[in-house]
Amino acid sequence: MSRKFLAHPSALILIAVTIMTAVAFWGCSATKRVGPIGPDGKPLTWSEMNIEQRKLHMKKVVLPLATTIFQQWRPERYAKVDCTLCHGVGDYTGDYHMPTDHLPRLSGELFLGPERAKYPDTTELKLNRLVPEMADALGVKRFNLITRRGFGCYSCHLGPKGPMFGH
Ligand code: HEC
Ligand code: HEC
Repeated sequence: MSRKFLAHPSALILIAVTIMTAVAFWGCSATKRVGPIGPDGKPLTWSEMNIEQRKLHMKKVVLPLATTIFQQWRPERYAKVDCTLCHGVGDYTGDYHMPTDHLPRLSGELFLGPERAKYPDTTELKLNRLVPEMADALGVKRFNLITRRGFGCYSCHLGPKGPMFGH
């Protein structure tokens, strides 16, 4: 590609569309059966698990994964990681509903402009590790920029006015 072509506005649009399509396909991993064996002899998906099975999956898979990620990032601040990291007092009251007010509310902007500007480190960590690894651990699709559905920031955080992107 010549420099002249790249400087042309339509070239930029083409590149943007290509990237968005690539991101959309990359986000398209199918639902996986990550749970215990169900009544039909097949492992359950996250959405098929009951609350007890979900708790166990969180304990066995999600908590160790989150502990590794947060401790590698800031070992001192996250010396002790437990269910309250994400669920807050919900862990004591038994209310594990997500997204939760226990975590800071995010801007609600699709491309995370304010988060990238104000909290570049945590945003990178979440985009590169927490979101993809947790989506895989739950066997669910990652957030997709075109459908605006899937596991992402708003699976844990609320937006300015409440839950966003179908959560
Ligand atoms: C790193 C953050 C994180 C940690 C740590 C964590 N969870 Fe979760 N938990 C989530 C998210 C996100 C969901 C919602 C997943 C979804 O359905 O999109 C969830 C969902 C759940 C649910 C299902 C709630 C419902 O309404 O279906 C239960 C139960 C639960 N967690 C229990 C626990 C327990 C018990 C622990 C500790 C052993 C724990 N969680 C640790 C993030 C976390
Ligand atoms: C699995 C749950 C989960 C997901 C998904 C998640 N976060 Fe978080 N986020 C947390 C937790 C837990 C904290 C609070 C950590 C603490 O208390 O120190 C947090 C804190 C933050 C903070 C506050 C940082 C600070 O220093 O005050 C920002 C900003 C943030 N997250 C942005 C994002 C963005 C952007 C995404 C998506 C790319 C995202 N988060 C995805 C769990 C999550």
